[in-house]
Amino acid sequence: MQTGRIDAWQGCKNRLPLPAIRIHIGKGKRLTFNDLTSPISLIETRRSGKPRDMIEPGPDPAQLDRILAAAMRVPDHGKLAPWRFVVIDSDKREAFATILRAAYLEEKPEAGRLELEALEQFATQSPTLVIVVSAPTSDSKIPLWEQQLSAGAACTMMLHAAHALGFVGSWLTGWPAYSKTIEREFGGAGDRIAGFVFMGSPGRSLSERPRPEFEAIVSHWPGKIEG
Ligand SMILES: Cc1cc2nc3c(=O)[nH]c(=O)nc-3n(C[C@H](O)[C@H](O)[C@H](O)COP(=O)(O)O)c2cc1C
Repeated sequence: MQTGRIDAWQGCKNRLPLPAIRIHIGKGKRLTFNDLTSPISLIETRRSGKPRDMIEPGPDPAQLDRILAAAMRVPDHGKLAPWRFVVIDSDKREAFATILRAAYLEEKPEAGRLELEALEQFATQSPTLVIVVSAPTSDSKIPLWEQQLSAGAACTMMLHAAHALGFVGSWLTGWPAYSKTIEREFGGAGDRIAGFVFMGSPGRSLSERPRPEFEAIVSHWPGKIEG
């Protein structure tokens, strides 16, 4: 049964900013990841799964459409929709692996068996795979940077939507995202691969990873000092 709640022991001493969450994370206590209790608890406890640990079921076609539609609701300056989502359906995963291997061998003809097997695993792991392509409009007054930020936001939104439906997701890049051959396969001129978003059910418990200290990230501007 799919509940979307993944309990795992966590040993992270980093503080989360809200008391409601802090009470869950004392040493030796259980932390619920991707906690569906409320919208804010889902965001506060967001945790990716490892694609290689993801198992069936992944999102069904209607759920996947919902996830993709949610990802289209990201902030998008100028309403340019500067992203494309390419679904690699399960019956196309082997073909995807084949083009990854060919592109890799083109770049590194001396590649060894282990490298090629890693590419095969990359292409075939997890039930669901979507390639998010940053597809900016070049003749727009909206800066390229802002359009690319929107593509990154689409990846994050896709993860949130997958988690909201009780799945786990993961956003990876790696060599395939930077291969010009793969870029051309999935995008047009000026497009770049923002990420490979994998989705499925968690085959293993999630565990916490180190998070930044709140105080190291957040500051309050002291204001202009009169001199
Ligand atoms: C643009 C981008 C690319 C990433 N690529 C990889 C990757 O290739 N391999 C990897 O192990 N993690 C990669 N990550 C990190 C994972 O997506 C993930 O954030 C990390 O494992 C931490 O888990 P969390 O999402 O639960 O915080 C990438 C993250 C971003 C934002």
